[in-house]
Amino acid sequence: MDETNRAVMVVFLLCTTAAVLTYGQILDVCTTCHPNATCDNKPDGSGKVCNCKFGFVGNGRTYCQDKDECQIGASEICGPNTTCHNTHGSYFCRCLSGYRPSNNMEVFIPNDGTHCRDINECKITGLCGPGSLCRNLMGSFDCSCQVGYQVHNGPERFNPNINKAYCKEVDCGLPASVENMVLMEVRQTTYRSEAMFECAEGFVWRSGDNSSVCGADGRWIGPTAVCEEILCGDPPTLPHAGKVWNGASTPGSTVTYFCKTGFYHSQGSNISLCTVQGHWTDPDISCKEVDCGVPPLIPNSIMQWDNISTVGSQVVYQCLSGYHNGGGGNVSVCTADGEWDEASLHCEEINCQRPAFIPHAEVLWDGTSHLGSVVHYRCEDGYYPRGLRNHSKCGENGQWEDIDVWCEAKCASVPVLENAEVVWQNGSVMIHRCVDGYHSWRGSNLSVCDSSGVWEEASLKCIKIKPPINHLLVTNEKCLHWKAEKYEEDTEVYTVTYVGSRDYQMSFYDRRKQFVTSKADQLEICLNLLPVTNYSITITAVSARFTTTITISTSMPVPPAPVVSFREFQTPTPTLRLQRSRDTLDPISLFQVFVIPVEGIMVFDCSSPASLSKNKPSTEYITAQIEVRHVGTEISFTVGDGRQYGGFYNTPLEEGRNYYIILRIVSQWKKDLKSTCVVWAKVGGVSHVLRVTALSAVVSIAVIAIIILGGYYLIWFFKKE
Ligand SMILES: *[C@@H]1O[C@H](CO)[C@@H](O)[C@H](O)[C@H]1NC(C)=O
Ligand SMILES: *[C@@H]1O[C@H](CO)[C@@H](O)[C@H](O)[C@H]1NC(C)=O
Ligand SMILES: *[C@@H]1O[C@H](CO)[C@@H](O)[C@H](O)[C@H]1NC(C)=O
Ligand SMILES: *[C@@H]1O[C@H](CO)[C@@H](O)[C@H](O)[C@H]1NC(C)=O
Ligand SMILES: *[C@@H]1O[C@H](CO)[C@@H](O)[C@H](O)[C@H]1NC(C)=O
Ligand SMILES: *[C@@H]1O[C@H](CO)[C@@H](O)[C@H](O)[C@H]1NC(C)=O
Ligand SMILES: *[C@@H]1O[C@H](CO)[C@@H](O)[C@H](O)[C@H]1NC(C)=O
Ligand SMILES: *[C@@H]1O[C@H](CO)[C@@H](O)[C@H](O)[C@H]1NC(C)=O
Ligand SMILES: *[C@@H]1O[C@H](CO)[C@@H](O)[C@H](O)[C@H]1NC(C)=O
Ligand SMILES: *[C@@H]1O[C@H](CO)[C@@H](O)[C@H](O)[C@H]1NC(C)=O
Repeated sequence: MDETNRAVMVVFLLCTTAAVLTYGQILDVCTTCHPNATCDNKPDGSGKVCNCKFGFVGNGRTYCQDKDECQIGASEICGPNTTCHNTHGSYFCRCLSGYRPSNNMEVFIPNDGTHCRDINECKITGLCGPGSLCRNLMGSFDCSCQVGYQVHNGPERFNPNINKAYCKEVDCGLPASVENMVLMEVRQTTYRSEAMFECAEGFVWRSGDNSSVCGADGRWIGPTAVCEEILCGDPPTLPHAGKVWNGASTPGSTVTYFCKTGFYHSQGSNISLCTVQGHWTDPDISCKEVDCGVPPLIPNSIMQWDNISTVGSQVVYQCLSGYHNGGGGNVSVCTADGEWDEASLHCEEINCQRPAFIPHAEVLWDGTSHLGSVVHYRCEDGYYPRGLRNHSKCGENGQWEDIDVWCEAKCASVPVLENAEVVWQNGSVMIHRCVDGYHSWRGSNLSVCDSSGVWEEASLKCIKIKPPINHLLVTNEKCLHWKAEKYEEDTEVYTVTYVGSRDYQMSFYDRRKQFVTSKADQLEICLNLLPVTNYSITITAVSARFTTTITISTSMPVPPAPVVSFREFQTPTPTLRLQRSRDTLDPISLFQVFVIPVEGIMVFDCSSPASLSKNKPSTEYITAQIEVRHVGTEISFTVGDGRQYGGFYNTPLEEGRNYYIILRIVSQWKKDLKSTCVVWAKVGGVSHVLRVTALSAVVSIAVIAIIILGGYYLIWFFKKE
């Protein structure tokens, strides 16, 4: 039992109960029945009962309500595909749209077996419209389009009643353009219609279909044809021809030929065309080589030509001899238009015009001035020619050759100078020189011929050569004398240079110079020459440029005596002193200290002291010898100190004896010896008066005689020869 049935059952039970309750109170049941109830006999016969009429439900008395049969559902009560319609007390059924009752009535009550059957709408022709296909469905139908048709305003499957869709015949429209093809014909544009294509101009069919078909989807299918472009490739090449071509090789393209330089277009067409067959038409241009022929002549010229007259060939013109290039180019070239381009050479006859003017010269000329004409120049009388070329020729450049000639005035009688000769001369200059044995004394040695032809004589004077210094001699080893040989009362300057040297003293060098300026004929000059020296004396007469030399060896002087003060000593070892001045002869000088025992008369020869010893050999002796160059100016010497001095033993003096100490100064060079003696001291015994005050003043005396007389010592000084 479903829900609905249960509800109905409940209502029924309630109604029955009510009727039973009211029954006991009201007996005339029928009067209480609801208008839409019937008063029926109870089935058991026990009275009447109000029953709601068919189609009503209720208690039969207070209410009888219409029963809604449809409430339980149309398909339950009316069957499938129905609608249920309730009526007061009843109901009826209708079929849903697309169905029809099987009793072919409009409505039905299903109790007679009537049911709803599907209507096949597709039986109605033209339901879906033209070009469509109808499909029956349960309760409905749908439409679709036949091939070649397409739905408009609706979906693929449509219901024309619902969405106004319809089938429209397919139309592909005009076919789109196809690459490299052209549309030839199209009759219809509907499904299955055909459009015919052809390869476009310049293209050739290779494969595929030329036609295009309108497809069911409204699009053109095809064409599948492959059309290839027609190309002629590279145009042919022709001899001596170039081409003007834009590179296009499609049919209709052209190439234009032209003849190359040096060739000309003699005949034929210069154009070739690319045909639809894909090849170039044969060009028939004919190019012939340009020929300029024989070159033109240029007056007064010859041409150098190799007989070739093609383009670029050259001819060179050269002016004939006697003509020169008066301007313009001398080359002509064969041009592409078959002409020699104009050579502008202009050959002019050479004309040197008048020859140059030379002062004092005559022109020897025949008056012509063409190439090779000659002109000579000759100096007028009184003039002589100078230069290297006295003629000129008219040259190719239209100029007279350079001349090198001029005319100089002749200088007649040549000047003669006394005692002179001519060293060099040309026409205008003369150089003189004194002959041997003479020399020039002032004046110019040049004689010049002036423009008037007169010699301007040289002022040179030649005088006999004599030495300017004559009779040169030295007097007193000191003074120079000479005779001056001069030619005029001129002052001469003399340079006197003297150089002294000594073999024994290498460090010695005495060079001095003196000037003498004098007009005198006899000259003397005294020089400060040092002793024992070799002098070379040179005298130069400066202006006479004469030099002469004289040599002199100076002699040895007596050595100067040192300053001593005579003293007497009691001691046997007296210390003696002396003072001396330095001398240039120190290197060859020495001191000898003599000891002379006093016994009787002594004679001491200073120049040769040894001579004394002949008489008394043991008495006198040298106790010391000292080289002067080793001592200073102050000398202190102790007699008898027992030491060696210069190889001599300084013997101690004997006590009680009397001695004289004599100092001998010796200068010696080679065989020359000079000496000076000084009594230096007296040593010993009894003191006697000795007058010695004069001793130091007589140093140059060579011999000392000491005489002891009665206890007095007398000393003499002799001068030795
Ligand atoms: C009885 O039924 C009829 C028709 O079926 C209806 O017209 C009428 O009103 C009903 N009377 C009452 C009191 O329900
Ligand atoms: C008609 O009834 C059948 C059976 O109940 C059902 O299958 C079908 O769908 C119904 N058609 C429509 C349109 O309701
Ligand atoms: C297509 O057309 C070309 C001319 O464009 C023709 O030569 C060719 O034979 C055609 N091909 C077919 C298959 O008809
Ligand atoms: C080709 O020939 C024509 C006539 O013959 C001429 O006018 C034209 O200049 C030529 N073209 C060339 C490139 O030579
Ligand atoms: C040019 O031709 C002439 C005549 O034909 C001949 O005499 C001459 O030698 C030729 N010159 C050259 C350079 O070939
Ligand atoms: C032609 O002229 C040039 C320069 O102007 C010159 O150098 C050459 O020598 C000339 N040739 C002849 C053959 O005269
Ligand atoms: C030119 O000079 C030459 C020598 O240099 C000489 O022989 C000739 O006579 C001179 N001519 C004249 C015209 O002076
Ligand atoms: C002579 O020589 C002098 C000097 O060199 C010179 O100036 C002069 O021109 C010459 N004269 C002649 C006639 O050669
Ligand atoms: C001529 O004198 C000049 C200047 O006085 C001198 O230089 C030249 O040597 C002299 N010539 C001769 C040949 O003595
Ligand atoms: C001087 O010269 C002569 C000769 O050359 C030489 O023997 C002597 O020693 C020289 N005298 C001096 C002091 O040089």
